[in-house]
Amino acid sequence: MIYTLKNAKIYANKKIEKKDILIVDGKITKIDLDINEGKIIDCKNKLIAPAFIDPHVHSREPGYEYKETIATVTKAAAKGGYTKVFLMPNLNPVPSNLRDLNLILNIIKKDALIDCYQLASITKNQTGKGELSDIEFMAPYVVGFSDDGKGIVDSKMMYEAMLKAKKYKKAIIAHAEDETLLYGGVIHKGKYSEEKNLPGILSASETVQVARDLVLAELTKVHYHLCHVSAKETLDLVKYYKDRDVNVTVEATPHHIMLNEDDLKDNGVYKVNPPLRSKEDQKAIVEAIKNGLIDMIATDHAPHSEEEKSKGLLNSSFGMVGIEISFSLLYTYLVKQNKVSLEKLLDMMSINISKAFEIENNEIIIGNMANLVIIDLDKEFIIDKNKFVSKGKNTPFNGYKCFGQIIMTISKGEIIYELQ
Ligand code: DOR
Ligand code: ZN
Ligand code: ZN
Repeated sequence: MIYTLKNAKIYANKKIEKKDILIVDGKITKIDLDINEGKIIDCKNKLIAPAFIDPHVHSREPGYEYKETIATVTKAAAKGGYTKVFLMPNLNPVPSNLRDLNLILNIIKKDALIDCYQLASITKNQTGKGELSDIEFMAPYVVGFSDDGKGIVDSKMMYEAMLKAKKYKKAIIAHAEDETLLYGGVIHKGKYSEEKNLPGILSASETVQVARDLVLAELTKVHYHLCHVSAKETLDLVKYYKDRDVNVTVEATPHHIMLNEDDLKDNGVYKVNPPLRSKEDQKAIVEAIKNGLIDMIATDHAPHSEEEKSKGLLNSSFGMVGIEISFSLLYTYLVKQNKVSLEKLLDMMSINISKAFEIENNEIIIGNMANLVIIDLDKEFIIDKNKFVSKGKNTPFNGYKCFGQIIMTISKGEIIYELQ
């Protein structure tokens, strides 16, 4: 199949400029002015960018298919402009050995609409202590190891996991949380938790574990990736270790970038781990995006049922969905408000991730497969959770007004999503 994406502005080679793109058999074959070959798709007034990559997604399959499946999450991702996602291993069974990992890889082969990079667990059944997963056997099939949802309690476990991950050139992807400092917390320990007398989660529960992990990462030279950074003190530590050239990368989520404890209401949709922290923490996260301490955007798309989210802050499950709306939210609240350039946001949602984890990139260059997102930056719309294709509707952003609607997503030259 031959077609031309015509009259768009494209983000290629670090610049945004008007060019047409010729796609032949799924590949980007020519980038130039005035191409008129094959079928013409008019993209006037649209932006074409490298399709997004999300390094942190919960697919819930196998084990929790009532919340989400690989079929539904990849469809939701395509709607959000993504063609590649990393899938977290807090599943049932947890992929701790090759047999259970293969079970998931087979579902992905059968059901996934986009490229899925399944992560395996660091410790057997994500217990955080006891025994390491079969890292050496699973390494050829994964980009990294994570116990997301839980911290690694035992320092020796983390040290030995890092040594093994380094040996097989894989990343440790860390949900950094010292579980001994949790005190049954449900939201950030701060203004709101004091006011409402709710158990709070100390910022230190994150910072303490990151401190330990960065000491060990320097020692083992592993690629240490920090998930969903939430506390300003953690960012100070990251700066110290980045300055020492430790191989550490950091992701931030749209909810930690855009919200803080002042936005809390006693409604389960605001409950997430790590929690929405103080206004100062939120400001520090935006600052760290500007100065490059934070490398990439991850949604931590974490679907739950209506029922599981209907029990207020105290008893609802932790987690928010976000993969269908992440670009539009960040475009509206970071780029349109002149906090971050459009180019930087696009880098943080694609190239920075493929570079950090050494996976195929989605760049718009001749010879690459066409993995593209087409965006109408000027189109205004209101987020309606009932229109989500994800099974999860648990977002605090329902009703938000956004610019930057995803019009089309192309994976390997094939149109996998088109706005109706
Ligand atoms: O809020 C969260 N939800 N944080 C996590 O670390 C896990 C996730 C989930 O799996 O629901
Ligand atoms: Zn996590
Ligand atoms: Zn997560």
